[in-house]
Amino acid sequence: MAIDRISTGILGLDKLIQSGFPKSSCVLISGPPGTGKSITALHFLCEGALNNEVGIYVSFDEPRDSILLSGEELGFKLQQLEKENKIIILEYFTIESNLYLGERSRIEDEMKLLVEKKKRMEKEGRATNELDNRIEMLKDRIIEIEKAIRESRYKITQHEREEIFFSRLNEIIPLVKAKRLVVDSLSAYMIYGVSKDALHMFIHRLRDLGTTTILISEAAEDIKALEKTAEYLVDGVIEFHHTDDGKDSMNLNVKKMRWTKQKKGSTPYEITPSGIVVK
Ligand SMILES: Nc1ncnc2c1ncn2[C@@H]1O[C@H](COP(=O)(O)OP(=O)(O)OP(=O)(O)O)[C@@H](O)[C@H]1O
Ligand SMILES: [Mg+2]
Repeated sequence: MAIDRISTGILGLDKLIQSGFPKSSCVLISGPPGTGKSITALHFLCEGALNNEVGIYVSFDEPRDSILLSGEELGFKLQQLEKENKIIILEYFTIESNLYLGERSRIEDEMKLLVEKKKRMEKEGRATNELDNRIEMLKDRIIEIEKAIRESRYKITQHEREEIFFSRLNEIIPLVKAKRLVVDSLSAYMIYGVSKDALHMFIHRLRDLGTTTILISEAAEDIKALEKTAEYLVDGVIEFHHTDDGKDSMNLNVKKMRWTKQKKGSTPYEITPSGIVVK
């Protein structure tokens, strides 16, 4: 029985793994900061989006805006794909705060209108006291909302947050028929001192979602042992490295890819202004 392959969106990487990740597999991409892990994930989601496969990016550390910006810089048209609901970017730590976020964006929209109106009225030499009061009130409300978001972030336990995270994904994936998922990063999840059992359960639950999933890991020293455990639990492991040749070059190594005849050894790659190029 032939296994369906899901293109990574990076031609040279596909070539190393028989044209792509096995469908519904969970692949760990591990490497130090700046080696292009998040960019690889964007290639993967955009490749899906361009073929009408919806993808979800769950970011733990990097704010949505920063991801959108780096995508736009590399020519990925993320904003457009988000508008078309082909890519959905979620921040893990604000998933539970969506109610607040909805209110904040409504307030911000109202503020924009009020500020424009105020400018017009000032030009016409009219008094703006009432508008000023309303704008001040809205600013206070935004401060309150931000405080509530911060507090709910810290008050909620790791277990509760994880429950919310999976119930949200279980709701959203069938709703938008998502086929691809990125979790960036597992390391950010693991710094909360998760046990091996909890990690096992987390990866198990990710696999149950049925998407083809990229899990990113920072390969940090303090979580090396847990990362090793994760490597056993996932279907594929790709390591990104800086090389020691002093030329700022990088290599990737497909360490494991179940059901796949993979090319072994190090393969050089570059991060170019249009993304990752595997040589
Ligand atoms: N427009 C661009 N042109 C060329 N190179 C770029 C561009 N944008 C980013 N880069 C390179 O990509 C790197 C960042 O890539 P990326 O965010 O995917 O790294 P990462 O492995 O996810 O890092 P972290 O672990 O810190 O999240 C930058 O350090 C830079 O070298
Ligand atoms: Mg990153």
